Amino acid sequence: MALILGIESSCDETAAAVIDGNGTTLAARIVAQRIASQDEEHRPYGGVVPEIAARAHVEVLGPMVEAVLADAGMTLDDVDAIAATAGPGLIGGVMVGLVTAKALAMAADKPLVAVNHLEGHALSPRLADPTLQYPYLLLLVSGGHCQILEVAGVGQYRRLATTIDDALGEAFDKTAKILGLGYPGGPAVERLAREGNPKSVPLPRPLVGSGEPHFSFAGLKSAVMRAKDAGIHADADIAASFQQAALDCVVDRTRIALAAAAPGMTALVVAGGVAANAALRGALEALAAEHGLPLVAPPPKLCTDNAAMIGWAGAERFALGYTDPLDVAARPRWPL
Ligand code: KG4
Ligand code: ZN
Repeated sequence: MALILGIESSCDETAAAVIDGNGTTLAARIVAQRIASQDEEHRPYGGVVPEIAARAHVEVLGPMVEAVLADAGMTLDDVDAIAATAGPGLIGGVMVGLVTAKALAMAADKPLVAVNHLEGHALSPRLADPTLQYPYLLLLVSGGHCQILEVAGVGQYRRLATTIDDALGEAFDKTAKILGLGYPGGPAVERLAREGNPKSVPLPRPLVGSGEPHFSFAGLKSAVMRAKDAGIHADADIAASFQQAALDCVVDRTRIALAAAAPGMTALVVAGGVAANAALRGALEALAAEHGLPLVAPPPKLCTDNAAMIGWAGAERFALGYTDPLDVAARPRWPL
């Protein structure tokens, strides 16, 4: 493993990090990292506006790379490779990060590692927990993705479940919008849910009990809308009931996936933005314990988008000899 400069720009966070792949603790592995959120730019629109995101990445990324190298006490000459998210994501933003990485790679004559953003999330638990070994069962829950995967090694993913409509983070964000909590929605729903009664509003649990571990959240969102329109429930009760319904779905679906997974999983692992949710972590901890497995969840700051996870995935790829040509394309869609 090696020193890797990581760059992330696929959605609304601009981020850069220097990762030491040889570090044996999380603190030693993240040599330096910086992140700039665009929440303020997008808040008036209630969601991420791709054009605004791309322009903000352009403004911030160059100086941020210089700053993070300075934080690390390094220059570009000191790193072994440059890793950047090459997709999936908002294509304008992905291009900003990838083109920047290509330019730096060319200027400093360093190898480029094109990282799948989902692989960044999928391997982030190994960054955070040096004892985590392959294979593990991964619940990947973010704003754009909701999947359960067997992770057997770098590039070795078997998808057991996906969503047939919305992602879990999307369901949180839409609920936040319905309740007027603004953007970004997930953390706001979680905060409000702490003040409500999770049993007060009857809401559906789509697909619970079905034999395949897939997800569906569109019906739950519609029910939240009807509950709000009814005008008889406190917002905190709606938020708490929504969160409980969503978590019941996730736990039931993950239980089915645990039964369907190949033998020998070392852990149940949760990653992606929604993994920052404390109630979700608690529910999954109990489920993992039922199966005699540890739950591994990165610290909340490594769950939402960041460059440390991209640098780490780059370090794992680089250690296996995977690098990419400078004409590698940015990809708006790129399944794991
Ligand atoms: O991984 P991420 O930062 O970006 C994507 O790749 O999508 O995930 C963002 C998603 C958003 O939908 C956000 O509302 C959700 O993660 N999220 C949360 C929490 N923190 C972030 N959802 C529920 N509870 C949270 N505490
Ligand atoms: Zn993400």
